[in-house]
Amino acid sequence: MNTLLLKDNENDINTAGKILADGGLVAIPTETVYGLAANALNPNAVKKIFEAKGRPMDNPLIVHIADFDDIKRYRLVSEIPEDALKLAQKFWSGPLTIIMPKGEAVPDEVSAGLDTVAIRFPSHKTAQSVIKAAGCPLAAPSANISGSPSPTTAQHVMSDLNGRIDAVLDGGECSVGLESTVITLAAEKPRLLRPGGITVEEIESVIGEIDVDDAVLNELEKGVKASSPGMKYKHYSPKARVILVLSDDESYIDFVNSKKADDVAALCYKGSEEKLSVQSFTLGAENDYSEQAHELFKLLREIDKKPEIKTVYARCPKPDGVGMAVYNRLIRAAGFEVINLEEL
Ligand code: TXA
Ligand code: MG
Repeated sequence: MNTLLLKDNENDINTAGKILADGGLVAIPTETVYGLAANALNPNAVKKIFEAKGRPMDNPLIVHIADFDDIKRYRLVSEIPEDALKLAQKFWSGPLTIIMPKGEAVPDEVSAGLDTVAIRFPSHKTAQSVIKAAGCPLAAPSANISGSPSPTTAQHVMSDLNGRIDAVLDGGECSVGLESTVITLAAEKPRLLRPGGITVEEIESVIGEIDVDDAVLNELEKGVKASSPGMKYKHYSPKARVILVLSDDESYIDFVNSKKADDVAALCYKGSEEKLSVQSFTLGAENDYSEQAHELFKLLREIDKKPEIKTVYARCPKPDGVGMAVYNRLIRAAGFEVINLEEL
């Protein structure tokens, strides 16, 4: 299949809409990461997403809308919980996905047989225009091959999916850089399943205390059922071995320099580069979580392009605010391997 490279203009947005309405696959930009979209109401189109990505069929997809009323118009949920209204009012459009009881129009392929459905209203204007042009809600997981970092540019999408999908719409670099925050309102108490650009603190300021699923910060124990199927799969897995280093700046630099070797790299904060004697990749300023979120996946892909790198020592981010999202992705990239220099 020849993958069309579309531009961010009205004509190409209409072309994307037409491909989607006809049951094809188009990768589209959103403010978080690129999504691999298909008509959410067409089971055959949705199946193609799983094939193109190599995604396990039991991992449900997020349904993207371009207007709050799309939820009712397309019968996506059976009930809109009170908290969903409050969260939508405050954070939509934006990087927050809300899980609600599934409506009758949503095919089992989208929800992976669950009785819930994840809904997101992206703020990216091009994403909204494509949804409108398609005339249907769009099911879209991140537009990467399952197991590689989510794509934040059209080039990332092409390097994973060229020849496997109908088109990529190039809308430039994604502003957030990590996937949306996912919260479920289908449990007894609202529960955070995936941290992202909208923080726990921000959500709690609107609907009160929420639970944070154990799997957000910790490795899922064997035999424990995941609240979100996505949690049980190895994610964001670079080719090199990534190890998080919990320490202050000085001990981190001493530690990494003691490992000095050609196959070692550092994923560090701004300002440490010149003190390190191995090649380094800068995640951002230590206290600028948004910058770290924006850079992380891009850097993991750059590191993947250097086969000589076998081990990456990464500074361990603090899990508060948007830092929780950075930590959540990095700890998975590291397969939960952490060296705590503060305890040695
Ligand atoms: O920012 C984003 O959310 C991006 C852009 C494209 O919108 N999409 C994205 O989709 O990250 P994906 O499929 O890569 O991640 C969706 C996560 C998965 O871990 C999935 O298991 C979970 O959400 N999920 C989806 N529906 C669910 C449901 N009904 N119950 C529990 N978890 C659900
Ligand atoms: Mg994904």
